[in-house]
Amino acid sequence: MLQKNIFLESEADAWFERNHAAVSSKDYSSNDSLTSAIVGLIGDASLDVSRAIKVLEVGCGEGRRLEWLAKNTGIEVYGIEPSQKAVDLAISRGVQVKRSTADEILFEDATFDIVIFGFCLYLCDRKDLFRIAKEADRVLKDNAWLVMQDFYSKAPIETDYHHLLGLKSYKMDYKTLFDWHPSYSCYSHQVHHHGSTKFTDDPSEWVATSVLRKSV
Ligand SMILES: C[S@@+](CC[C@H](N)C(=O)[O-])C[C@H]1O[C@@H](n2cnc3c(N)ncnc32)[C@H](O)[C@@H]1O
Repeated sequence: MLQKNIFLESEADAWFERNHAAVSSKDYSSNDSLTSAIVGLIGDASLDVSRAIKVLEVGCGEGRRLEWLAKNTGIEVYGIEPSQKAVDLAISRGVQVKRSTADEILFEDATFDIVIFGFCLYLCDRKDLFRIAKEADRVLKDNAWLVMQDFYSKAPIETDYHHLLGLKSYKMDYKTLFDWHPSYSCYSHQVHHHGSTKFTDDPSEWVATSVLRKSV
């Protein structure tokens, strides 16, 4: 069975149950490196601020980052997430989240000014990666931003997922899903410690935050 179906069936809710307490006490304000990257883009002159800026987070969990962004920056926020429990909680917080996975983004073409991959790609089936990239490209407007944060490794690595036998966790340089394409250029790519913005020499702790510009 595909990993995404196991997440949709049970593992995404199990992830939610295991992590809800930690997520509740996490700071999702602009002190968070991913939120801070989004805040930086909202101020960018390339976004048409005369219309509402629409942001999608793929794998948004219970929507706390999106909730903070909506309250503090006035943007319109949307998410997709496979956990029904996380979706219900996000909706109760006023975030419009649909239950789905990254390979099937249930929104119209050219809807978003910013698409965020919020630390979910390491859980995605490798055979879905082309579809995942195509879906993000489809829902992004022509001149828009893509922000990715995930485990980083120069060469792809596959390891066992600790919580369920048979599932895998994947590290790679996720910006390469897009930056080969002439319409995408990498605006910034920061490799840092998992949990802080500081660099570490320990590759097992590497996380990358990559900001890409789609210019058509
Ligand atoms: C590490 S959490 C990150 C949650 C949130 N973005 C954050 O930064 O707090 C990973 C999330 O990805 C979700 N997920 C798992 N498989 C996914 C898939 N194929 N597509 C989209 N999201 C997925 C999980 O249910 C979980 O909520």
